[in-house]
Amino acid sequence: MARGRWFSERRADPWHRRAKIEGYPSRAAYKLKHIQRLYSIIRPGDLVVELGAAPGGMLKVVSELVGDDGLAVGVDIKPITLKGENIRTLQIDINDPSAPQEILRTLGDSKCDVLISDASPNLIGVAEVDTLRQLDLVFRCCEIADTVLRDDGNVMLKAFECPELTRIEKPLRLCFIAYRRVTTPPSLRKHSSEVYLLGIGRRRAPIAPLLKSVLE
Ligand SMILES: C[S@@+](CC[C@H](N)C(=O)[O-])C[C@H]1O[C@@H](n2cnc3c(N)ncnc32)[C@H](O)[C@@H]1O
Repeated sequence: MARGRWFSERRADPWHRRAKIEGYPSRAAYKLKHIQRLYSIIRPGDLVVELGAAPGGMLKVVSELVGDDGLAVGVDIKPITLKGENIRTLQIDINDPSAPQEILRTLGDSKCDVLISDASPNLIGVAEVDTLRQLDLVFRCCEIADTVLRDDGNVMLKAFECPELTRIEKPLRLCFIAYRRVTTPPSLRKHSSEVYLLGIGRRRAPIAPLLKSVLE
């Protein structure tokens, strides 16, 4: 999309305007608020990691939800400028082999209660390629969850609807007490097939090898 058109569409977007007025770095804040209203995945005092957190819309919501006794850790390959007493940020590529240990170190060597991923690759507009790249990120986030998420913890992972998604849902159902595929209101989505995979109450580790077995 031409840069000028991108800016004018963004200015006209009511969610973007609302985010600006309410002090959120991005409209993604309202996606997390929507999911939190439905499923209460984050509680006061929680340690929460968000992968793909720049510029920080969801991270600010996380920080508000966990409060003074909790911690919001935002991870992105891009810098995150959002600041707060209960916010820590980490600028790394989540595909880097050392990423899980670096995240754990930022958590003070405690495992987190909730792992969110809103990470997305640069979309090229070819659905088959974009959905599979997104699926790679889902898999990587599950590998990271295997190191940093506590037993009984929750995950919320961004994905795009595709046939492979149905295949990975079976292992996700096994790994969590409850599993849901959630869509946000259409006006909030930039990509019409965007969904979030919610795993509530991790009951079986590790997650990634089970996913790998159905993807191969
Ligand atoms: C849709 S944006 C996230 C918006 C953010 N959650 C918010 O609330 O403002 C997707 C993010 O994923 C990040 N990302 C994509 N691949 C990544 C990777 N391999 N490692 C770290 N971050 C990545 C991008 O840099 C981008 O900031």
